[in-house]
Amino acid sequence: MKAKFNVRADLREPDQKRRLTHGLFTGIAPEYDRITPLLSLGRDRSWKRALIRALPDFAQPCCLDLACGTGDLAFLLARRYPAGHILGLDLTEKMLELARQRNDCPNVSFACADMAHTSQAAASMDIVTGGYALRNASDIATALDEIARILKPGGVAAFLDFSKPASRLVQGLFHVPASPRSTPILPTA
Ligand SMILES: C[S@@+](CC[C@H](N)C(=O)[O-])C[C@H]1O[C@@H](n2cnc3c(N)ncnc32)[C@H](O)[C@@H]1O
Repeated sequence: MKAKFNVRADLREPDQKRRLTHGLFTGIAPEYDRITPLLSLGRDRSWKRALIRALPDFAQPCCLDLACGTGDLAFLLARRYPAGHILGLDLTEKMLELARQRNDCPNVSFACADMAHTSQAAASMDIVTGGYALRNASDIATALDEIARILKPGGVAAFLDFSKPASRLVQGLFHVPASPRSTPILPTA
C-alpha cells in the first residue's frame, strides 16, 4: 500500500509543515503541560526561568513570545517586567485557549499568528522570546527575518530549544532530549 504521508518531505515544505504542526499541537494541547516536563526530564521550568533571568533590564518593554503554547514564558516575562506589555502568539487555537484560561496577568495578552508573519509593526519589540519555538517554524529563514524586522534597535531575541546530541550513538534518542540549548541573547544593532 502506498504511504499517504512522507513526514520528512512534508516537513521541508512550509505549508505542509504548518498543517502538520497545527494538527499535532491541536491533538496534544490538553496533555501538553504534562508532556514537556517529561521530555525535559523535569528541567523545563528551570530552563524557562533561566532564559528569562538572562534577559537584560528594561523598564517598560514590549515583549513578544513566539509559539507561546500555554503561556509559560509569557507569564514569566510578566513577572520579570511588571510594567511591560507581553503578547504571546501561537498558531494553534487550542494551545491559546489554555493560555487564556491560565492568564491572571493584566499585562499579558494572546493572539493567533504564525511566527513568520506576526503582523507586528517593524521595530516595535524590545524583547522576542520563544520556548521550543524555532524548531516548529514552517520556514526558519522567514521566521528569523520576521524577528529581525520587529525588534527595535538594541532589542534582544532569546530562544530555548533542545539540542541535537553530538554522539551518533545517542542521536537515536534525539526525541528524548537530554540537554537544552539557549541561543545567545543577541542585541540588535
Ligand atoms: C513545543 S510547543 C512550545 C510551547 C511553549 N513555548 C513552551 O515553551 O512550552 C510549540 C508551540 O509552537 C506552536 N507553533 C507551531 N508552529 C508554529 C508557527 N509556525 N507559528 C507559531 N506557533 C507555532 C505550536 O502550536 C505549539 O504551541
